[in-house]
Amino acid sequence: MLQNLRKLQLTEQQRNGMRAAGKFNAQLMDYIREHVRAGITTSEIDRLVHEYTISHKHTPATLGYLGYSKSCCTSVNEVICHGIPNDYELKEGDIVNVDITSIVDGWHGDQSETFLIGQVTDSARAVTQCAFDAMHRAIAALTPGCPVSVIGENVVAEAEKWGFSVVREYVGHGLGRRFHQYPNVPHVPDRKSRQDPLLPGMCFTVEPMINAGTRFTKLDTRDNWTVRTRDGSLSAQFEHTILMTETGPEILTSTTNGPKPGHKF
Ligand code: MF3
Ligand code: CO
Ligand code: CO
Repeated sequence: MLQNLRKLQLTEQQRNGMRAAGKFNAQLMDYIREHVRAGITTSEIDRLVHEYTISHKHTPATLGYLGYSKSCCTSVNEVICHGIPNDYELKEGDIVNVDITSIVDGWHGDQSETFLIGQVTDSARAVTQCAFDAMHRAIAALTPGCPVSVIGENVVAEAEKWGFSVVREYVGHGLGRRFHQYPNVPHVPDRKSRQDPLLPGMCFTVEPMINAGTRFTKLDTRDNWTVRTRDGSLSAQFEHTILMTETGPEILTSTTNGPKPGHKF
């Protein structure tokens, strides 16, 4: 088992490939940020993501991935993840997660942010703050060689503080030359994650999905992608791509204009 994980440890040159992919993806998130406003449709956001990526000669990783037909995911309000961009026009009070993954010279950068559209309810703000704080708390707790379960422990502790729940069916993941690979990164600790170490040179995502109500999910059987909260409550998510180094975690997808750890929404 440990031997398989050792294969995921990247050389310095490979790490630089991942750093470049993360950097481009973050730059794209910064470009998109100013456009995520009331009045834009989620397909218009998708078109901006697509055109920016192509014009920089990179590739949107989701386009054609397992039959998915868009260049990003846009998950509004009770949509937990994998919302497909469509003609829905964002309006004041919505929260929307934009999840973007790029391929740069064969390496993947994957991140998401939840955006508040104008004035939102206290509970929309709270679930967004909780997801953001849970992600950064989990990242800050990582040390070289620590078990993957450190992530779940910290996400669960943060969610409990707010009285919110953590989605289990969709998890973080290793990434590199592939979009989704080992290790699995659940946001609730389990047996496997207590055994898998995060070794220097491994890249993975931390992407907690937090629901204001129950943790349960419902897949839309009309498109087989859109995942909603079963009780219709709001859900928020943030995601970063992380490289574990010999000295600790390095966030590869840090933005220039986005929220920093400690940010208050
Ligand atoms: N970007 C998502 C993740 O964080 C995966 C989206 S896959 C898609 O892993 F096909 F739904 F786009
Ligand atoms: Co991901
Ligand atoms: Co993602």
